[in-house]
Amino acid sequence: MTTAQQDVIDTLLGQHQQVKMLFAQVESADGDHRQELFTELVGTLALHESIEQLLVHPLAEQELPDGDQVVPPRLAEEEDAKQALSALYELGVSAPEFEGQLAALRDAVSAHAEAEEELEFLRLREVTDPGELTRMAEVVASAQALLAQHLQAAGGQAPSPLAGPPDQVFERVRDLLGKADGSEVQR
Ligand SMILES: [Fe+2]
Ligand SMILES: [Fe+2]
Repeated sequence: MTTAQQDVIDTLLGQHQQVKMLFAQVESADGDHRQELFTELVGTLALHESIEQLLVHPLAEQELPDGDQVVPPRLAEEEDAKQALSALYELGVSAPEFEGQLAALRDAVSAHAEAEEELEFLRLREVTDPGELTRMAEVVASAQALLAQHLQAAGGQAPSPLAGPPDQVFERVRDLLGKADGSEVQR
């Protein structure tokens, strides 16, 4: 449950923890279970990075005095992570190289999250209107509701919007979030 006071920074910090947990779970699972958890990891990262790219990085770029130096490296790291997820997807969860490449991505994503928290998120709270950060949390909640509707509509028969090649999953989630924000999605 989200409360009225939860802001988008709370949402993102919670997702950083969730991603960390999912990496550990994928690592220790195998077979079909590992596949399911990997799909969940891709979907979670797709939603998380889309929220950052559509809502929070643009705000940081605008509001933080050094926003134009803080944000571009984070965007590059996110692009690298998406490509690493695609490589893992192509490799398949049972490939011998999977674990090593997953561990490398886990470390990169963890360093990326620390940089965001320290250089971006916690400082944004000091300079941004709290109402704006709360509004963004509401946009995210709408996107999650839309996503849940799509998952339910798929009903295990049609392919889930969170399954398949990571670049396509990222694109679908980004479109959903753009709809929830009621604005055109930038590409
Ligand atoms: Fe990020
Ligand atoms: Fe993040």
